[in-house]
Amino acid sequence: MEDVSTIVAKLYEGHPYPPPILDLSKAISQGNYQVGDPTLWAPLLWPEGRPRQKLKILVAGCGTQQAAWFAFTNRDSDVMGVDLSEPSLAHHRYLQEKHALQNLRLFRGDLREVGKIGENFDLIICTGVLHHMADPDEGARALAGVMVNDGVLVGMVYAAFRRTGVYMMQDLFRRLEVKPDASGIAFARQVLASLPPWHFAHFHINASQDVKSDAGFVDTFLHPQDRAYTVPQVLALIEGNGLHFQGWFENALYYPEGSDSIAPELRARLAKIPERDQWASMELLMQWAHWHFFFARKRPTPAISFSGDAWKSYVPHYNPGIRRLAQNQFSRLGQPITLSAHEIAPFSAVDGVKTVGEIGAHTRQMFERLWKQGHIMVSKA
Ligand SMILES: C[S@@+](CC[C@H](N)C(=O)[O-])C[C@H]1O[C@@H](n2cnc3c(N)ncnc32)[C@H](O)[C@@H]1O
Repeated sequence: MEDVSTIVAKLYEGHPYPPPILDLSKAISQGNYQVGDPTLWAPLLWPEGRPRQKLKILVAGCGTQQAAWFAFTNRDSDVMGVDLSEPSLAHHRYLQEKHALQNLRLFRGDLREVGKIGENFDLIICTGVLHHMADPDEGARALAGVMVNDGVLVGMVYAAFRRTGVYMMQDLFRRLEVKPDASGIAFARQVLASLPPWHFAHFHINASQDVKSDAGFVDTFLHPQDRAYTVPQVLALIEGNGLHFQGWFENALYYPEGSDSIAPELRARLAKIPERDQWASMELLMQWAHWHFFFARKRPTPAISFSGDAWKSYVPHYNPGIRRLAQNQFSRLGQPITLSAHEIAPFSAVDGVKTVGEIGAHTRQMFERLWKQGHIMVSKA
């Protein structure tokens, strides 16, 4: 019997993922980004301040473009991409040449053996990979083992509930021995098109652009090794393997403040339970998340909290996704940001330098709400 890494390597050799892009500047100019890119999300990575300008970045399971992307946007840092799939690394080499990425190195191998490279990293990106391993805990431990003390892991694993129908279809296609080749993909697409309207798989398909490409379709429905995580399982993956949870990439998915549709009595009861139970409850209530994107540290850092006194020295930064529509109107993810008349001036005062205390002590509740809604990132002065 082949080991799981060999089986997974074969899948991504046949269908390199994500579908290759030919020009990074064009992709970025179209509004695309990489979660955890320090040029955009530094306050989420290191709320206490970026440890050094020249970073050593590891992209573990880099696919066709992710390590090249980080090398392109972080020219003053050294980036290493590791992947099992040679065709994925070959596309990296194309991007490396096209964009003259002298700061990129590539390594074909299994992230379980990343320690053999003999280097430690300030920033480790591992998105969409651990959940394809036979033992994701072993993968998380291997990554923790190559992090410097003030290092940070940007991880992503699939979220369980939204993918319920995906796992039903994976199970069906395995029983029917559907292969990830042209005729298998065509057959599986026909089956999905004929599902009854109430089938759980629609919940994923309707919200996914990914399944339109063959690479995305295979990655979703014909994957030989794939599992998903609830919020408590994500925390166990991190904390059971030598790391400390630091935060979510998108707070709005995990805090009740992220939803307008929660009834007042439920909101009041949620506000009384511990923060971690709020995160788990939001997942149970809303079933929003397809993925859990998270930040984990080797050494714990004080949690962001607006309840003691520390908030006065927090420095708010706009989430890079915020758009200014007009003088006093802002939006993010296509939705307007709700601000009352007296909140517009302090919100407009955010410059990534002034502290909440300097903007005004009366703004504590507003910044707490905006942080829980994901509109604001905070660093510590
Ligand atoms: C779904 S793709 C994600 C690619 C990239 N991280 C991204 O987010 O765009 C998963 C990638 O991880 C690689 N991979 C899976 N298991 C791996 C392992 N044990 N070691 C190294 N790479 C692995 C696969 O070859 C594939 O290229």
